[in-house]
Amino acid sequence: MEANNWLEIDLGALVRNARHLQTLIGRRCALWAVVKADAYGHGAIPVADTLHRMGISLFWVASIGEAIELREAGIFAPIAMFYPPLRDADWDAVMRHGLEVVIESESGYRAALQAAARWNRAVDAHLEIDTGMSRLGWRPEQLPDLLQLWRADHPIRWRSVFTHFACADSDQELTKEQLERFLAVVDRLRAAGFPEVPLHAAASAGLLALPESRLNAVRCGLLLYGIVPLFRYGDFSFVQEELEPVLRWRARVLSVRTIPAGQGVSYGWRFRAKHPMRVATLGVGYADGYPIALSGRTEVLLRGRRMPQIGRICMDMMMVDVSELPDVQPGEVATLIGKEGAACIRVEELAHRLNTTPHELTTRLGKRPTRQILKPAGEFFERDSV
Ligand SMILES: Cc1ncc(COP(=O)(O)O)c(C=O)c1O
Repeated sequence: MEANNWLEIDLGALVRNARHLQTLIGRRCALWAVVKADAYGHGAIPVADTLHRMGISLFWVASIGEAIELREAGIFAPIAMFYPPLRDADWDAVMRHGLEVVIESESGYRAALQAAARWNRAVDAHLEIDTGMSRLGWRPEQLPDLLQLWRADHPIRWRSVFTHFACADSDQELTKEQLERFLAVVDRLRAAGFPEVPLHAAASAGLLALPESRLNAVRCGLLLYGIVPLFRYGDFSFVQEELEPVLRWRARVLSVRTIPAGQGVSYGWRFRAKHPMRVATLGVGYADGYPIALSGRTEVLLRGRRMPQIGRICMDMMMVDVSELPDVQPGEVATLIGKEGAACIRVEELAHRLNTTPHELTTRLGKRPTRQILKPAGEFFERDSV
C-alpha cells in the first residue's frame, strides 16, 4: 500500500557531508558518527552501514538496545554507548556483542572490572569527564578517587578520554572554559601515568564554534545529517551552503476543496477564511511527528512554492492554503522538509520557529512515515522504518 507521507533519506548526501566535514576538521582528527535515536530519525542501520563503508571508525549510540539493533543488522564496526551499563545483564550484552562502554563513575569502573572478570576478557572503555554538563562523568574534584582506583594492569582497554560541552551553541567563553578544565584533567591523568589515548570534546556546535576543541576526534551528529545547530552567537549559516540535508519529508495531497469566506478550518476553528479559499488536505499530522505547535505558523512546498499551513494540525492530516495554486489535485506531493526545485524548507527553520533544537524535530519523526533510502549509487529502494 502506498504511504501518504514518507521520508527520503539521501545516503549520497550523507557521504558528501561526511567527506566535507573530514576535510574541515583535517585528516589528523577522527570524524566519529553519532547515530543514536535511530540516527536522529534518519534510520540508524542504513546511516551506520553507509558511513562504515566509507571508513568512519566509531559509532556512538545512547543505549545497549540501540547498539544491539546495529549488530543484529550486521554492522560490526566499533560501537560505543553514552549510557553506562547498570545491570549484569547489560554488561553481559556488552561483552557478547563486543561493545564499547563509557566509564563515568566509581561504581561504573568497579562494574567494568567485574564484567571483565566474569568474561575473562578486557572491557573497551571511554573515560568521561564532567566539565560542566552535570550529567555524566567524573567531576574534576573526583580525580583523586579515580586515580586511586585506576591501575595500569586492570583489564580495561582505554579507548579515549572525553567531555561534553554544555553551551557550545550559546556561549563561546563558557565552552573555552570547559575545554581548559578538560585539558587540565587530562594533564593530571597523564602525569599519573594514565594511557595517552585519543581526546575528544566537540559535537557539531563545538567543532564549528571552537576549532581548537576538535582535539583527536569529534562526535558528530547533526552536521552529518546536513543540519546546522542554531547558534545564539556568531554566524555559521554559511555552513548550510556546504552541507546537504539528508532527509526530505514528503506528503500526498488527499483532498482539495473550496471554502467560502468566514468558514472555519480544523479543530477549534482557530483559522477562519477571510475570503473564499482553496484548501488542500495533506496526509500527515502530529502522529507522524509534525509538531502540533507549528499549527498556523508553518509552510509546505507544493510545485516548488511555499504554501501556508492553516488551522490546527490534526493527528493524521493538515490543511494548507493553496488559493495561489487552485488546480492542485489529490495525489500531488508536497514537501514538508527539504528541497523542491529551487525552494527549500530546512529543519533549522522549523526549529527556530519553535524555539527548539533541530535534534528534537528529527528525533520526533515517528515510525509511521516509511523511509525511502536513496543509495549513494543512485539505486532506490523502500524499507520500513527501523
Ligand atoms: C555526548 C554527546 N556527544 C555528541 C552528540 C552529538 O551532537 P550533535 O548532533 O549536535 O553533533 C550528542 C548529542 O546529543 C551527545 O549527547
